[in-house]
Amino acid sequence: MKHILLAVTGGIAAYKAIDLTSKLTQLGYDVRVMLSDHAQEFVTPLAFQAISKNPVYTGTFKEKTPQDIQHISLGDWADAIIVAPATANMIAKLSVGIADDLITSTLLATTTTKFVAPAMNVNMYDNPRTQNNIKILKQDGYQFIEPGDGYLVCGYMAKGRMEEPLQIVSMINQFFVNEKEISSSSFLGKKALVTAGPTVEVIDPVRYVSNRSSGKMGFAIAEALRDKGAKVTLVSGPTQLKAPDGIEVVHVQSAEDMFQAVKCRYIEQDIVIKAAAVSDYTPSEVLEHKIKKQDGDLSVKFKRTQDILKYLGDNKKHQYLVGFAAETQNIEQYAQDKLERKNADVIISNNVGDQSIGFNSDDNELMMHFKDKQTVKIKKGKKVALARQIIEELETRWQQ
Ligand code: PMT
Repeated sequence: MKHILLAVTGGIAAYKAIDLTSKLTQLGYDVRVMLSDHAQEFVTPLAFQAISKNPVYTGTFKEKTPQDIQHISLGDWADAIIVAPATANMIAKLSVGIADDLITSTLLATTTTKFVAPAMNVNMYDNPRTQNNIKILKQDGYQFIEPGDGYLVCGYMAKGRMEEPLQIVSMINQFFVNEKEISSSSFLGKKALVTAGPTVEVIDPVRYVSNRSSGKMGFAIAEALRDKGAKVTLVSGPTQLKAPDGIEVVHVQSAEDMFQAVKCRYIEQDIVIKAAAVSDYTPSEVLEHKIKKQDGDLSVKFKRTQDILKYLGDNKKHQYLVGFAAETQNIEQYAQDKLERKNADVIISNNVGDQSIGFNSDDNELMMHFKDKQTVKIKKGKKVALARQIIEELETRWQQ
């Protein structure tokens, strides 16, 4: 039986926490509830006690058993902690590590997975302070359950409603399914570095050379690795994509920036996957002033960039190295050539001549090329699904 510790803080959505407790209990979870002082202005301990069939915890110094230090033992007992509803005040306190009541002390003292379901007025939610606090907590591994849009008690029709208990329960169920999968994954605790997106090579203060890579392929791979328990660093060129939760993102611009960011992290990685579309050329010089229009043609001289994948292959120690190949013809032959020339363990090719896949599309179609000349076709589909298949395939091979 899995143990859930539910922390209820002071907002009108506290009434939904009673329903949440009921739904979790009915599914067989053992639920214990902590109520903040403010939560008790809205709901009573007795309601939670009756539903959870467990004592309810209301204060740091209201110790129930002399053998335990409550704010430590509750966190140790829990397989997952849910803060629902989470007020702006609670989120702010957690983000700076304040521990002035039972809930904040317990959360500070535990390494258990924590879910946070915010509920508040939309302006409080959108306030940069709150958003910054959420960002900090996400970086610390807190998993946020986004509030929904709709009627708020303050009279607004806007974002800020605590997610419905049924949805929260299904996320918790999924978490335990994933956790089971992660615990048997060979990527668990391994360090992975993924590159994504385009590079930007500056010509003058207003012009640059880049490409149409959206970063979607690389981001999906980084997320698939994270979902297998890897500690992922994503080195990305400029994209429109939101930084994924639980992944360290390093933003870069040029091929040289990407090279430096990858190089200095390479030694500590177990696996590196290079999905970025790195420019092969960069202007020989970056002009300080905008090039003025003149009669006639203009030539810009380019020089070669560092081939990052080749550098990694040449300096490989223990790392498993996966490169991509963006080709428009002779795909099989060029991919095999890249595999050998760049000393990679795997090359994943895609036909970037097909406009329905590859660059800046949600879809792709791929072929994995292995050193033993075996190939595995990953059929056309969404990049998110393909990324999972790639990681599954790599998992079966990389430690052989
Ligand atoms: O970002 P999306 O819109 O989702 O699109 C995904 C993608 C098409 C960009 C992706 O699937 C892909 O093919 N990425 C590799 C693009 C590329 O640069 O391919 P390439 O064949 O030119 O390079 C081969 C390999 O060498 C790649 O792993 C590349 O990252 C690497 N390389 C290339 C040049 C360079 N200077 N340094 C490198 O490390």
